[in-house]
Amino acid sequence: MEDMRAMPEKKIENLEAELFIAAKRLLAARAKLADSQGKADFLRLAERHGLEESWGQKLYEIFRPVTGLYFNPSIAGFESYAEKQRKRPEAPAALLDLANNENPLGPSAAVVQVLQDNLGSIGRYPSLSDLHLRQHLAAKLNMPGLGEDYLVLGRGVNHLISEIAFAFLVEGAHVASCRNSFPVYYEMVERSACSIEYVPVDVDYAYNIEAFCHSFREKPPKMVFIGSPNNPTGAILDREGFLCILECLPPDSLLVLDECYRDFADEAACLPDTFEAVISGRNVISLRSFSKAYGLAGLRIGYAVARPQIASYLEKRREPYHASQMGILACHAALDDSAHMRTSVELIRRERGKLKSGLEALGLKVWESHGNFLLFQAPAQKAAGDAVQAAKDITLRLEIHHGIRIRDLSGGFRMPGHLRVTVGLPQDNTRFLKSIGQVLSELEPPSKT
Ligand SMILES: Cc1ncc(COP(=O)(O)O)c(C=O)c1O
Repeated sequence: MEDMRAMPEKKIENLEAELFIAAKRLLAARAKLADSQGKADFLRLAERHGLEESWGQKLYEIFRPVTGLYFNPSIAGFESYAEKQRKRPEAPAALLDLANNENPLGPSAAVVQVLQDNLGSIGRYPSLSDLHLRQHLAAKLNMPGLGEDYLVLGRGVNHLISEIAFAFLVEGAHVASCRNSFPVYYEMVERSACSIEYVPVDVDYAYNIEAFCHSFREKPPKMVFIGSPNNPTGAILDREGFLCILECLPPDSLLVLDECYRDFADEAACLPDTFEAVISGRNVISLRSFSKAYGLAGLRIGYAVARPQIASYLEKRREPYHASQMGILACHAALDDSAHMRTSVELIRRERGKLKSGLEALGLKVWESHGNFLLFQAPAQKAAGDAVQAAKDITLRLEIHHGIRIRDLSGGFRMPGHLRVTVGLPQDNTRFLKSIGQVLSELEPPSKT
């Protein structure tokens, strides 16, 4: 029997690809296939690759559990969120959670009231149509020409990212994004069996517009994902950069701009007029969320803004009753209480500056942020060796000894040695600064090298 370890890598790859195709074919024909025919297919496959019959038998045994079900090979290797969660258990209620970029004020009192008043109605399905909420949103966005047909609702921006990938990417398509960005972009691209090109960024994680344009020329993408403000770096794509990117974007490419933190950006920031680009017919989708400035993360509602042709295509993907009754009611109430939203934004802008100065006073490198969070670097340690260990120690000690959770970005964000903290209420931020100061003083002194 041919030893698999001695097989050239290319041959293994080819074999894998063929196996998936064979398994898929078997599934499609499953109703008609007798078991023995399934086995015969694998035996033939082994023969075609010059492998002994026992290999065919072995492969059949391996693939047998999946041949009885329809499975999508492009998601087979992915770690599910249930698996991820096992490594990062739910925060106990008593914990001060500064790891998820939530609104520290939560929802407005008007939202809570409307939810309480309507609890009795949850036995009924919401309306099949989400038209009223889209009309309400369009009225609030108050942009001439931008009507409800430009809006698509989803169960949060996460859901919309997945829907967009499904609706507009075909297997093998090429997508561009930046490495230090929101992991859901690349997760959804890879799950769609597409490849992703990471465009380099400038110093301090600023977007490098030339690098984007160069990358578009070298390898024209079908889709581009950009976060602005970007999680976790806090960087924005400014008006000029946005217009340049639109200029260089291939005509059959879609720019997805995730703007779910947009409300928190500095007032002085020169943000692009994405709605104007949408109305003028550009291939742009702007993603907005009710989770952040409106404080409705638990209700899972976000929306996409795109020209009607794109919006209606996305709309084809949606299932009936996609937005919950309570979610819809809460969004109506939240839109009507713009004072609460403004208070949240003002709080974040004020506290973000204070928190940044506080962390810098502790000797930490902190990046400028336009979101409701700050990115900072763990100090390298002499004994423990590096910043990666320091980031782990800081997160663990904060959680265990101080009851505060922040985010170590070594995992999904792929930024080892970096940490992210959500801007909280003034008293939370003071408590966090005091705690991290203590934790830092307990760590090994910074490395001289
Ligand atoms: C950049 C970015 N996009 C999208 C989301 C998810 O938003 P939603 O709650 O609307 O799914 C987050 C959540 O933290 C985020 O950081």
